[in-house]
Amino acid sequence: MSAVKMTERKHFLSTADLTPGEVRSLLNAAQKFRKPVQADQNTPLLQGKTVVNLFFEDSTRTRSSFELATRRLSGNILNFSASTSSIQKGETLLDTAKNLEAMGPQCIVVRHSSAGSPKVLASAVAMSVVNAGDGFHEHPTQALLDLFTIEEKLGTVKGKRVLIIGDIAHSRVARSNIHLLRKMGAQVAVCGPPTLLPPHPEVFGVEWAYRPEELLHKADVVMMLRVQFERQNRMQIPSAGEYSRFWGLNRDRVKLLKKGAIILHPGPVNRGVELAPEVADGPNSVILDQVFNGVLVRMAVLASVCNPEGLKKWLK
Ligand code: CP
Repeated sequence: MSAVKMTERKHFLSTADLTPGEVRSLLNAAQKFRKPVQADQNTPLLQGKTVVNLFFEDSTRTRSSFELATRRLSGNILNFSASTSSIQKGETLLDTAKNLEAMGPQCIVVRHSSAGSPKVLASAVAMSVVNAGDGFHEHPTQALLDLFTIEEKLGTVKGKRVLIIGDIAHSRVARSNIHLLRKMGAQVAVCGPPTLLPPHPEVFGVEWAYRPEELLHKADVVMMLRVQFERQNRMQIPSAGEYSRFWGLNRDRVKLLKKGAIILHPGPVNRGVELAPEVADGPNSVILDQVFNGVLVRMAVLASVCNPEGLKKWLK
């Protein structure tokens, strides 16, 4: 996309509403950040600007990479911890955000268990809002870094078959990826236990199956999802052991993959549940590349919402 389109998007809330041109533009910016980051050089695109990390759910990768991305862009970062804040005294999400905004930041990165909360914030505050994961809804920067990693390893996502295995019904990673990957020309398929698939998976426009063996041989990319034990309001799988036996990616199932197929996982990995340790650490795994790319992609997103004109000039 032209960087002009970036200037039109003040918030980054979902992959569903991105145009393919905007996606290309963000990936291009992320790629341009690779060299300075690898050379340990900062770029000045957020100089004099402050980003707030407002996380109401636990995070290792997303929170840390937004912090590093802000620092790589020479910005200031304020890390807000809900567990030691006045949220504990009953302050609302909206009041919290408005009070933090009064301190002068330009952008707030929010993770919350309620689907739609970043969109609500975006309508109530003047600063930019970036969605770092909202309930079952979306995790748009995760999908963007997944796409970036797929293209880094396979050249293009167009025409590639991406198989997503796991808790499709409750996964914001799956939802954001299905929107984004289909938009960019991938053929997406989903697989999981009947209790963890939506009632009609075909409404996503994807191929689907209950058993990985039906789809693994066709996949260029296998994206394993974490079993979200914390989001299950009743046991939707009989046991972790049984899940691993029927849906886990182990050495035998990896043998069904095409040569050159890659394995992604957003993390954190439940080792021995959705991924056998030797597969998580094996030659097909690009999990740690995803983590590195997360910094580049989040730099692109932050620069595009906080300083679109500066980014446009820097990319020339
Ligand atoms: N992928 C992901 O969102 O990881 P974290 O929960 O550690 O941020």
